[in-house]
Amino acid sequence: MSLTGPRSLFAKALEEGFAVGAFNINNMETVQGILQAAEDERSPVILQVSKGARGYAGRAYLHKMVEAASAEIGIPFVLHLDHGADFDICKSCIDDGFTSVMIDGSHLPFEENIALTRRVVEYAHERGVWVEAELGRLAGMEEAVSSRESVYTDPDEAEMFVARSGCDSLAIAIGTSHGACKFAGEAILDFKRLDVLAQRLPGVPLVLHGASSVPQDTVAVVNAHGGAVAGASGVPEELLKRAAVSAICKINIDTDLRLAVTAAIRTVLTEEPGVFDPRIYFAAGRESVRSMVRHKIRDVLGSAGKA
Ligand code: G3H
Ligand code: 13P
Ligand code: ZN
Repeated sequence: MSLTGPRSLFAKALEEGFAVGAFNINNMETVQGILQAAEDERSPVILQVSKGARGYAGRAYLHKMVEAASAEIGIPFVLHLDHGADFDICKSCIDDGFTSVMIDGSHLPFEENIALTRRVVEYAHERGVWVEAELGRLAGMEEAVSSRESVYTDPDEAEMFVARSGCDSLAIAIGTSHGACKFAGEAILDFKRLDVLAQRLPGVPLVLHGASSVPQDTVAVVNAHGGAVAGASGVPEELLKRAAVSAICKINIDTDLRLAVTAAIRTVLTEEPGVFDPRIYFAAGRESVRSMVRHKIRDVLGSAGKA
């Protein structure tokens, strides 16, 4: 079994200055595309499941697919709950065999976020499961959080939060946001704040959500084949590379995989209008996920060869 918890992966990432990519899965093709890429590059990887993905595929399907992959895949990978909104979904994923969960109390008042996180930590740690928590708020939409403006993570609060909640890793807000439209003007991340957070939380793996780059060439392929994705902008790769060598050990990417799948499927369907075997365009989507993830591992995360 190569399904594992993140502890040793993050310890290595901190020591050697790389980040582990956390990619969202929704179906068989994304699971296979991501894991094939990680094997190609001999990289550790995190497969993450949102509440929406679990609802879409059905509670058992995604983790059963991951279990099936585990028998074949020769690199360590983590199965993680993304943006768990309450205790019950965290418990349900822990009971199902996830090796890591995120409890996202970032929308709650400070003391309530601590209390909720603490409750999940107690249940998870008794079962050997890792807990990511979040402090600060990303701009844009999160599954459990809708905020028009981001609230960057405060270092004093972060130190108190980790000590009192007992969480294992902390998602921080330093300027990224979810989705395909991240920056209206210049893309800026608050690296000074990141440095202070890293100093105040020695040895604690930090997590960067909202880290898609929204590659303009992929958006152009979508739009050239009938799509209408407007105003799309992401986090420039140079900024992500800088984050990956810091205390950021986990970098979350979903939007770029959505764009990759959509670009590939739209291309097949418009350029080969006679095709109606779904395996042909789903395979193109899977291959597109694979090459996007290989690119991230090699050129952004620095995790190639670290498995
Ligand atoms: O941060 C959220 C992820 O992109 C998951 O999105 O809730 O639409 O599955 P979703
Ligand atoms: P993106 O929307 O930038 O891909 O962020 C994904 C994410 O943070 C999932 O938790
Ligand atoms: Zn997120």
